[in-house]
Amino acid sequence: MKEIETVGIIGFGVMGAAIGMNAAMSGYRVVFKELNDELVQTMFDKWVVKSLEKRVAKGKITQADMDAITGMISGTSRYEALSDCDLVIEAAIEKMDLKIQIFEDLSSVCREDAILVSNTSTFLIETLMAKATHQERTAGLHYFFPANINRLVEVIRQKNTSDDTYQALMAFAEKCRKTAITVKDFPGFAINPLFISSYMVLDSFLGETYNVATLESISQEALNVRYGIMWVQNGSGLGTCYHAGVSMFDYLNGSDLGYPVVPDQLKAQFESNAPWNLTDGEVLTDPEARAKVKDRLLGNVFTIATHLVENDVVSVTDLELGVCTALAWPKGPFGMMNDLGMEETKRLIQQSVTVGDYKMPKRFQAGTPEAWEI
Ligand SMILES: NC(=O)c1ccc[n+]([C@@H]2O[C@H](COP(=O)([O-])OP(=O)(O)OC[C@H]3O[C@@H](n4cnc5c(N)ncnc54)[C@H](O)[C@@H]3O)[C@@H](O)[C@H]2O)c1
Repeated sequence: MKEIETVGIIGFGVMGAAIGMNAAMSGYRVVFKELNDELVQTMFDKWVVKSLEKRVAKGKITQADMDAITGMISGTSRYEALSDCDLVIEAAIEKMDLKIQIFEDLSSVCREDAILVSNTSTFLIETLMAKATHQERTAGLHYFFPANINRLVEVIRQKNTSDDTYQALMAFAEKCRKTAITVKDFPGFAINPLFISSYMVLDSFLGETYNVATLESISQEALNVRYGIMWVQNGSGLGTCYHAGVSMFDYLNGSDLGYPVVPDQLKAQFESNAPWNLTDGEVLTDPEARAKVKDRLLGNVFTIATHLVENDVVSVTDLELGVCTALAWPKGPFGMMNDLGMEETKRLIQQSVTVGDYKMPKRFQAGTPEAWEI
């Protein structure tokens, strides 16, 4: 298996910097590339020096630790400086043509045995690697915001990714103290299709009966979480949520899975430039009205989870682990289905099919299946 010692990062913004800091703190030498020398310095000062100074001030690390970590990271504006890297993680802005070009450029400067991966949120890895010369050494490595804290990493195998590349990435993730799950190259990969679908269905209820505070409270209760789905959307930014929803709908609505439409309420809120107002009034307590939303939300999560495993995007075990790790839900979709019982699960899935969010997963087409083996 390929040994990784030096990691290149393309784009030292919110994600790239957090990925780079995590790698440096895990013992890897890190070389990041930014657009020009000025940005190299600005990003280094902002993400490396200032963030480590804060940790020293709080007594979380010593000055000697800070010096050691700083010494592991260097920046450049030239691709040639990445020629020694064993692994290059691309975290530039989300533009397809730019990413395809980056992998073509990397192919001409990197060593023959270097592994090239993208942290894209929405594009298929195979598409981004169209002009990379060694397809077997390409893959996806999808981190979650904030990447220095959120432990989940999806290791994306595109159809040409070799076993050796995959194993080297799993070992890298483990050494970086991440929880890695294995995912097929699929629109949005595994966690985002489920999460995006869950907020789209919830947002679609916003109106006269349900305010934001009520939807937040219903999602907290349904998923048994402290921070509900409206709160999490604000954290991600409603622009990101809206565009991700559009992209998932375009990819999947016409497929064998189906996908919910992007609700007008989300579009309007994003266009207003304000986050969801989580305290916009009384929380509705009527059990029947609350159950209506809870059922749709859970049915939606159960249906997409079943589709993802039926389409071999991810295993039951990895999706359960991934949802609990990335989204901090105490139970994943399969644990929740088993707890509710398969009769009730089938009723909720049937409902999400009837309203047109999804097509019926095969497992639930004939009769009521056995509980999931997680
Ligand atoms: N922010 C998130 O929550 C999140 C989560 C998962 C994945 N992602 C993905 O990570 C990637 C980066 O997102 P971000 O939020 O860190 O963006 P960002 O805008 O904070 O950072 C992108 C950085 O890339 C640099 N850059 C652009 N073109 C470059 C090039 N050719 N060479 C070198 N540097 C270049 C920019 O100067 C900028 O600093 C995107 O593909 C995004 O979809 C983001």
